[in-house]
Amino acid sequence: MSNFKDTVLVSGGAGYIGTHTAVALMEAGYRVVIIDNFSNSEPSAIEGVKQIVGHDVIFEQVDTCRTDELRRVFERYDFSTVIHFAAYKAVGESMDEPLKYYMNNLLSYMNILELMKEFKRPNVLFSSSATVYGDADVLPVTENTPRKPATSPYGNTKQMAEDILRDCCAAYEGMYGIALRYFNPIGAHPSALIGELPRGVPNNLLPYVTQTAAGIRECISIFGNDYDTEDGTCLRDYIDVVDLAAAHVAAVDRMTEKKMKTKYEIFNVGTGRPVSVLELVTRFEKANNLKLNYRFAPRREGDVPAVWADTALANKELGWVAARDLDDTLRSAWAWEKHLRGIK
Ligand code: WQD
Repeated sequence: MSNFKDTVLVSGGAGYIGTHTAVALMEAGYRVVIIDNFSNSEPSAIEGVKQIVGHDVIFEQVDTCRTDELRRVFERYDFSTVIHFAAYKAVGESMDEPLKYYMNNLLSYMNILELMKEFKRPNVLFSSSATVYGDADVLPVTENTPRKPATSPYGNTKQMAEDILRDCCAAYEGMYGIALRYFNPIGAHPSALIGELPRGVPNNLLPYVTQTAAGIRECISIFGNDYDTEDGTCLRDYIDVVDLAAAHVAAVDRMTEKKMKTKYEIFNVGTGRPVSVLELVTRFEKANNLKLNYRFAPRREGDVPAVWADTALANKELGWVAARDLDDTLRSAWAWEKHLRGIK
């Protein structure tokens, strides 16, 4: 008898959400096998995970697009569940290089599904995104809110991957799936040993904010202040990455304890609270007691004015709530940036 609840394969486990989830799973008593090809992450992320959990971790450098490499992982480890994070995620880049996105994000995914089927491993947890809702007609969005046609190849891979999982769960007796639709993940582990590691100029708001605070960027551009919102800037649902990781643990528990109500389920993972871009920037300043340069700039193409989650289903079915306070989250993001840059 092992002391572990079960074994979970985490693809993309050196990434931002992957590292936090791997830590949360280990802390919850799971054995975790991390795979990553470091295409958009660094070995230092695995070191951070080790430091937090206080022991060595199982890691294999594997490209999930390579069936032979992935097959060896399936032969070697007896996991019941895979969490598939490994994917490209830059919306703009996906418009310029759609094939790169379709090839990587869908091939790796189908490789995993095919091997799950062949090796009779039951549970697939997929990283989906609020991006599938597009510019929703009614807010907040529930899991039944109709998806809008994707506006980028990145968004399309998320929609397609959801549908592929739905179809596989319907067709294959032993396969179960959960898609978690993340809103806007931000923040870092309270230890400041892991966090987001964007390469080049960040596309997302909070890394841009923390890099501006660190003096790496001169000024934050707030994209659009003429939206139909209270202060004119976009509304988003910013979810702490540690809360997001906890939602994965709850979803894995649900699968391994066989508590799913249907073979394929979808949950929104957000806070249910809309926050404007301007509010996020000013709260970051207050929470961290510093001043930032920012200016209003034209709207960014493809941005929806507002989206936030109805979290009732996840709260009830997963027994999970977003617990962390936004100011603490913003402090954790700054602590991580300081750790990265060696700022005291
Ligand atoms: C948030 C708000 C911007 C940067 C995207 C993807 C989504 C998911 C997360 C990830 C928007 C504004 C941003 C800046 C700004 N994908 N902003 N100045 O666009 O809600 O979601 O990332 O893997 O699928 O679509 O997140 O952080 O880019 O933007 O004013 O420098 O901040 O206009 O209103 P978004 P974001």
